[in-house]
Amino acid sequence: MTIRTRPLPTIGQEVLDLDLEAGIDDATARSLVDLWRDAGVVLFRGMGTSPEALLELSRCLGELEPHPIESIRMPDYPELILLTNKGGLRGPVYAYDGVPTYGRIPWHTDLAFSDTPNAGALLNMVEKASVGGRTAWLDTEKAYAALDDDLKQRIEGLEVRFEFRTDLKDMKYCNPGGSRVGESGTNFPDYPPHARPLVWKHPVTGRTIMNVSPLNLRNIVGMDEAESDALLQRLIDAVIQPQFIYEHAWEEGDVILWDNYRMMHSAMGHPVDVIRVVHRTTLRGTAQVGRILAQ
Ligand code: SIN
Repeated sequence: MTIRTRPLPTIGQEVLDLDLEAGIDDATARSLVDLWRDAGVVLFRGMGTSPEALLELSRCLGELEPHPIESIRMPDYPELILLTNKGGLRGPVYAYDGVPTYGRIPWHTDLAFSDTPNAGALLNMVEKASVGGRTAWLDTEKAYAALDDDLKQRIEGLEVRFEFRTDLKDMKYCNPGGSRVGESGTNFPDYPPHARPLVWKHPVTGRTIMNVSPLNLRNIVGMDEAESDALLQRLIDAVIQPQFIYEHAWEEGDVILWDNYRMMHSAMGHPVDVIRVVHRTTLRGTAQVGRILAQ
């Protein structure tokens, strides 16, 4: 089956005619893998909301990886996680302009603090939020290509330190403001600090991409703190630009697939009394990147 696509407004592609009920043959699966790598972010509409359908689509892209936070895995589908506030909160609540907000996650790469990042992930909108709840993706390949030559030269060969923080107030970059007003009760595993090359080659496509992940970014390894702060802030300001971002207003049954080596993503969050239900699968990565740092 040939898949037809069209570009999303800024970055990424939308698949127009995938029929999951007809099954995904090997040639279609190969085309989807190529599209995933080439486009970085891929939207499928009308995919339904069943866990089995999401798993079928996900499995044709690679091996699945159970999420490190066990409490959010779905009991009958361990490779699938449930992101929701239905039936109780499963994450922290922050107040923005007095509105208690759930599910907000600033720009990040999944597992930026691990030496084996996941290759990608899929989100499936099961129950969309009536207010807010958008998700956005940012292409570090396009952002790198657009950097001025001076900045490209200054960041070449540098290593950055990433740390895992559970409270957004502890973020050094892209702190979205807001104050924590509710606890999650989520048990996060311990992750030691990690160093990665700031500029690197995509393990599959060989194209130049960046490890920026502002949620976890602390400093440039071995650089004076003030110099590191100024350089990273300049880089983040150059990277977080609308022309590199696709922001999705969800419909139920939408699935979005992304390349976690290349893309960052951000969940906008929604008022805590507005229900939203999302299923997610994660594609296992094989590429080793970076090194663990002494505390
Ligand atoms: C995620 O980062 O996987 C969650 C995205 C979302 O809830 O929109």
